Amino acid sequence: MTTIGFIGSGNIGSAVARAAIGHGHEVVMSNSRGPETLADLVADLGPQARAASASDAAAAGDLVVVTIPLKNVDQVPVEPLAGKVVIDTNNYYPERDGRIAELDDESTTTAELLQRRLPTSKVVKAFNHIMASQILTDASPAGTDGRRALAIAGDDDDAKRQVSALLDEFGFDVLDLGPLAEGWRIQRDTPGYVQRDDLEQLRRHIAEAKRYRDMS
Ligand SMILES: NC(=O)c1ccc[n+]([C@@H]2O[C@H](COP(=O)([O-])OP(=O)(O)OC[C@H]3O[C@@H](n4cnc5c(N)ncnc54)[C@H](OP(=O)(O)O)[C@@H]3O)[C@@H](O)[C@H]2O)c1
Repeated sequence: MTTIGFIGSGNIGSAVARAAIGHGHEVVMSNSRGPETLADLVADLGPQARAASASDAAAAGDLVVVTIPLKNVDQVPVEPLAGKVVIDTNNYYPERDGRIAELDDESTTTAELLQRRLPTSKVVKAFNHIMASQILTDASPAGTDGRRALAIAGDDDDAKRQVSALLDEFGFDVLDLGPLAEGWRIQRDTPGYVQRDDLEQLRRHIAEAKRYRDMS
């Protein structure tokens, strides 16, 4: 059993938390407004869940999921995440996040921004290309024909092994894209983004992915 901390308890945070609880883990949820505003969610999630401040959720997690609007990435607590595996679900939506020049010119990627904020943490990009509700509905046991596959990216192999094991436990095959810098291959508007792909289809979509600047 692992304790998973959540920075962000919205659509994706609450769905990943439900999956984690379903597989025997404990979760510590947080948001921007304080733990008292998460009472209904925590009651709904049950006895394996509790709410805390973002810093306390970060400190409590053996592994921590950052799942907030990208524009708030500079508010993620740094010190309590030192040395930890941190899953980053975030995507860049300029209409929500405002313009971020280095994402617009594609000199970096969303998860690299979080890694820069958390220099000693081991950031792994995951869950960015599946609709929140599908984390529960599209899960299936290993070996199921057409099992949905999810992409990950990260600079630390051991961290990626841990996240891959969690994704497999939750019900998904895993495709490792390589380092964080390759995460663009599953960013918004790429062929694999929010598609119900099995491993082979996802591999094909990743190979077909184009940078925004190369899209017509
Ligand atoms: N929705 C999807 O199906 C989906 C799928 C894949 C990836 N994503 C990506 O995952 C991220 C989260 O999406 P979402 O749909 O779950 O968003 P959401 O429903 O709007 O939830 C965002 C959560 O982040 C919290 N938050 C915001 N700023 C925070 C901060 N500084 N510290 C702690 N918590 C903070 C919010 O708390 P308050 O309410 O208190 O502000 C809220 O709980 C986004 O980057 C999104 O693009 C979403």
